[in-house]
Amino acid sequence: MNIFYSRQEITTFIKGAISSNKTIGYVPTMGALHKGHASLIEQSATENNITIVSVFVNPTQFDNTIDLEKYPRTLKNDVELIKKIDSTIVIFAPNAEELYQGKIETKSYSFDGLENEMEGKHRKGHFDGVGTVLDLFFNLIKPTNAYFGEKDFQQLLIVKKLVSNYNLRVNIIGCDIFREDSGLAMSSRNERLSANSRKSATFIYKTLLEAKEQYKTKNASDVEQWVTNQFLKNNVFKLEYVSISDAKTLKPAVNKLKNQECRIFIAAFIDEIRLIDNIALN
Ligand code: PAJ
Repeated sequence: MNIFYSRQEITTFIKGAISSNKTIGYVPTMGALHKGHASLIEQSATENNITIVSVFVNPTQFDNTIDLEKYPRTLKNDVELIKKIDSTIVIFAPNAEELYQGKIETKSYSFDGLENEMEGKHRKGHFDGVGTVLDLFFNLIKPTNAYFGEKDFQQLLIVKKLVSNYNLRVNIIGCDIFREDSGLAMSSRNERLSANSRKSATFIYKTLLEAKEQYKTKNASDVEQWVTNQFLKNNVFKLEYVSISDAKTLKPAVNKLKNQECRIFIAAFIDEIRLIDNIALN
């Protein structure tokens, strides 16, 4: 199995792949891989001649140094998980010095306002950091297709915007959210939850499903208020935001418009661990 750590190694590999007309599927990750990541990697492996998975905890997208320090780093397990999917998959796992060539700086991007909603409001500079690192990776890996989960729905829209606004040559493919049997969306951060908190965390998905039911007959602000109240009654969670938003612009869906696709988004803390989730409402 090929694991590359340097820009030089991956560049040489990509040159070879391009000269033999291979399609390149790319799955960017921050490691601590789980079945959610695996579903993206499997899709890439079926749809491309070559799949590259990057494993890199990107410092420029964290606004909180404790979160960055505590982010799980499990490269050995990640390699095993990928090997089981397909041992021809290539892993690119540079360190920050190597990837950023000694200059760990965040570039600033315009995503036509998508960056100012939800996660953008609560995690300052987060999407500039995501844009910066993906710009670097796309340039090195030159993927035909790149795979992103709807778990981070705002990120998925922002990456599509990065590609269209900055004329990058890659197809962005969105993939369904992979959940545990309990409904909890799989996340690397779940590893930090105690057994009890992990059980309680199913509350998020249950609340989203109930909100979807309510949205059939109520308006967005009433449903958001209901969700807020559910969280207030729950002692273990602290709700950061709930938003019913247009699925294309991410602007709050104030009125129900005909043919408008909406989603409901939640960010909440449990044991100081921040979890996000979302589902389609129609
Ligand atoms: P990370 O959180 O590791 O996620 C990597 C990819 O896996 C993202 O596209 C994310 O949406 C997807 N993913 C995570 N959990 C999922 C689940 N339960 N079901 C389906 N897909 C899921 O997102 C990042 O890393 C970073 O921001 C990155 C894009 C790598 C840039 O640093």
